[in-house]
Parts: sequence; structure tokens; C-alpha cells
Amino acid sequence: MVKPMKNNSIIIAPSILSADFARLGSEIKLVEEGGADWIHLDVMDGRFVPNLTFGPIIVDAVNRLTELPLDVHLMVEEPERYFEEFYKSGSDWITIHFEASQNIRRTLEQIHQFGIKSGISIKPGTSVNEIKPFLDAVDLVLIMSVEPGFGGQKFIASSIDKIHQLMKIRAENHYDYLISIDGGIKESNASEITAAGVDILVAGSFIYHSADPPEALRSLRKAVMSL
Ligand code: DX5
Ligand code: ZN
Repeated sequence: MVKPMKNNSIIIAPSILSADFARLGSEIKLVEEGGADWIHLDVMDGRFVPNLTFGPIIVDAVNRLTELPLDVHLMVEEPERYFEEFYKSGSDWITIHFEASQNIRRTLEQIHQFGIKSGISIKPGTSVNEIKPFLDAVDLVLIMSVEPGFGGQKFIASSIDKIHQLMKIRAENHYDYLISIDGGIKESNASEITAAGVDILVAGSFIYHSADPPEALRSLRKAVMSL
């Protein structure tokens, strides 16, 4: 079933990349209080991206802190090496990078074998055309609207065109992937981005670096509901 979701059912997935890991439990509670739908977890290996974050141990900790679905974004090379561990840690969605995998179709199948939903992500320099051959086989497409690796960067405006292209391909082929966007999302651009057709907004620093994270999350929701 094609899911052009209603604006009031946009999924908001706070990225804990910008959270304070010394108080992970209360940081998760804050976004639950603000109405988060999913929790987005950014796994970086220092090879695919020039930064290191965390692995399955933290995903497992978050899984024990919340009932919300865990949206795991793997910015790692050879992601298939880690699927079993991320499965055991409670991942509900695993998104791999198109640029990081040699055999995309097989990698997506391996995710599905664990009963986990699969996503494919593209960096700003990768076109939608390049992932077109795999769009029948994914549950989610994650458009990186900043260079992956760090929070707090500026939204790259050309990402909006990718949303339009993915909407068109989905409608024409009766595909059912969700469209997610990650990087530089804030209250001032959320409504324009959502109007272009995304289903999921990932936001890190806008929420966690604000003085009042639940209120920041609610302001995002309000921005997309008033469309
Ligand atoms: C960046 C990560 C993002 C990041 C977004 O590589 O994939 O999820 O946390 O952070 P903001 O919202 O600060 O751009
Ligand atoms: Zn991410």
C-alpha cells in the first residue's frame, strides 16, 4: 500500500547523536514527553564517515529505556557484519548506505531475514537514479540532507528535489517505502520539507541543543501540522 501519509501523521524521529550520553535515560524521556514517534540512532565507524559514535551496546541500552521503535542509521562499511548484533539489540529499522555496500539487494535481504524493516540512505552527492533499481525492495529511503558524520550542519536545499523524485517513483510503481530526511531539520524549514512529501523527519541538534527539548519537538510537530 502506498503511504502518502497525512501531514498530521508525520513521524518525528529525534536523533540522540546530540543528546547527553551521561544522562541517556532522561534524554530519552524528554523526547517521549515531547511526542517522539521513533528514536533515531546514528552508528558511525570512522571509515565510512570521519566520526565514531556507538554500536549495538548503546542500541540495547536505548531499547531498555523506551518502547518507541528504534530507527538505526548505519554509517558503516560492510554493514552486514553487524546485522545480527543490531537485531539482538532491539533494532526495528536498519538503514544502510548505498555508498557503503557492494551488493545492495543481498544486503537488504539479509536485514529482512532478521524480520527487521530495511532502509537505504543516500549522501547528498548521490542521485535518486542510482538507487532506483533497489526501490522495489526497501521499506524506507533516507535522504541525507547534510554530509553524514556530524550533527548541527545546514540543510542542503537540493534535497527537496530528491523528495519529489522519490514520491514520483513510488506513485508510478506502486512501491510502499517511507521517505525520511536527515540533517539540518528545524522549526523554520520543517513545513517546507514536509510539504514536499516526506513521511519521517529526523532531527538532532534542533531538539537536543534547545533549552527545552520537549517544546522544541512540539514546535516541529506544530510546524508540520499547520500545513
Ligand atoms: C548525521 C546524522 C544525523 C544527525 C542529524 O550524520 O545522520 O542523524 O544526528 O543532526 P542534525 O539534526 O543536528 O542535523
Ligand atoms: Zn542519521
